[in-house]
This record gives sequence, C-alpha cells and structure tokens, in this order.
Amino acid sequence: MREFDQKSITQAVIARLSDCDDARFKRIMTSLVTHLHDFVRDVKLTEPEWFTAIQFLTDVGRTCTDKRQEFILLSDTLGVSVLVITLNHPAEQGSVDSTVLGPFYWEGAPDLPRGSNLAQGVKGEPTFYSGRVLSVDGRPVENALLDIWSGDGEGNYDMQLPAETGMRARGRIRTDSQGRFWFRSIRPTFYPVPTDGPVGSMLRKMGRHPYRPGHIHMIVSAPGYLPATTHLFVAGSQYLESDAVFGVKESLVAQFDRHPPGTGPDGECLNTPFYTVNFDFRLRPEARATERS
Ligand code: BEZ
Ligand code: FE
Repeated sequence: MREFDQKSITQAVIARLSDCDDARFKRIMTSLVTHLHDFVRDVKLTEPEWFTAIQFLTDVGRTCTDKRQEFILLSDTLGVSVLVITLNHPAEQGSVDSTVLGPFYWEGAPDLPRGSNLAQGVKGEPTFYSGRVLSVDGRPVENALLDIWSGDGEGNYDMQLPAETGMRARGRIRTDSQGRFWFRSIRPTFYPVPTDGPVGSMLRKMGRHPYRPGHIHMIVSAPGYLPATTHLFVAGSQYLESDAVFGVKESLVAQFDRHPPGTGPDGECLNTPFYTVNFDFRLRPEARATERS
C-alpha cells in the first residue's frame, strides 16, 4: 500500500527503519516518530502552526554562533536538559545532585591556591566559601578539583560584559589532604537567561519570566570518582521556586550567613558586610557506578 491515512502513516515511517543496523538509533527514531505523530494528531496541528514551528527552529539555528547555543537554551527552558541530567546522573548514596552546565562555562580558568579571591575587582558582596569534598562513605577526597564560575553581584557573567574583561569570578581550587577547600568570591544574584533571541520570544509568548535564582557553578572532580556538574543556590534568592531552566535541587540550596563589617575568616578586615557559606560535596566512586551498570 502506497497511500497512508492519519493513523497508518506512523507505522509506515517506522517500517522504513527496517534496514537500520544501529539498534539504539532505531529505538530512538521509532519512539521519536511515534511521539511526534501523536503530538501532531493530539493538537490537530494546522499548516500555519506547522510553518511557524519550522520558522522558529530555523531562527533558533540562525541565532547559534560559536559563543551562543540557542538550541541548548531551548532545551534548558523546556526542561529537557534537566530531565536528561536527572536520568543520567541520579544522586545516589547521598552523592551531590547534578544540574545544568549552562552557557557560561569557560574552559581554562586559572588554578588558584586555596583561600584565593576569585572575584578580585568584581562587583558584589564578599562571600567566603568553604567545605569538603568527600566520598559517599564520608572519606575525605584529597586533591579534588573544583572548577568554579559565577556571574557578578549584578547578575552579569564576564562573557556578557560589553568590554572584553577576560575571565572574572572564575577559578580552579583543589582540596587539601582532609578534603577541605576554601575560597572567596561574591554572593551571586538572580539574572535572566538571554532573551534577545527566539527562545526569549517563546518565553514571552508562554507568559514566562526568564530568571534564574542566584547560584554559583562548579564542576567537582577527582581521580577515581564520577565528576559532578552542579551549583550552589543562594537560600532565599528570588526565583528559587520558578527557575527558568528548572535547575534547582533542594539539596543544592545553601545558607549564606550574613556578617557585619569586621574581620573575615581569612583574617582580612572588611569594611562592608560579608557572607559565609559552608557546603560538602559527596562524590560517587567510578568503580561502584560501573559495577551497577
Ligand atoms: C546559567 O546558569 O548560567 C544558565 C543555565 C542555563 C541557561 C542559561 C543560563
Ligand atoms: Fe549561571
């Protein structure tokens, strides 16, 4: 039969995968076609709507540059990124939750000694971060690497500033023999995801705000352990309940304690209020994860 009706078309497309010798690809495409066709039937997609969708995806592609990935932003704002991360990096045995990488990671941040100020000259309230990297069984992980980045206290990442500032509020810190780390940066504030492209138009049309709550990013890694791409969210920050990219995990919300001007934990005298935050990251040993799978 060459002619298909609105039901038989789905099976016909799937049948054309019969010579596909990549089993995983075949499974993904079969499911994709099934759900896509069901979606079209479900909403009874009109031709103008279908064309609008094609134009939208074309615009998303055209907005991508080597510095901007609008497709990832689309995936983030539709909750697909967090869904994929949550499926593939389940927090187990108390290991740290993973969340989105986001578009502002910049490989090659400087290696800095513990206690360094990552945000020298960056706007924002001084904050002293400390904690430990531990194995899920509580053993300290020596020489674990924290690759850290955040926006400034006004919500701007270095990459977004109009002037070429180079790297700011970024650095790589390693743990000591007891798994401890400490460094200084600023207290991050909420900020909007980029809204000047098609994803921004989509959010407005959906009646959604574009904001993410205040957070600092880190990739925590150590030899023999599964790395974790994660954040610390500022407890009490606006938009914790409605993160535009659905990245909040309760376990990653950290208390930032405010202190009056005075001597900071590093012995330096600060003439403005400052914050301290303490957080332990637990990593899963690689071997255990491999055994399970
Ligand atoms: C961010 O946290 O930097 C971010 C994550 C996803 C989309 C946009 C921004
Ligand atoms: Fe961010």
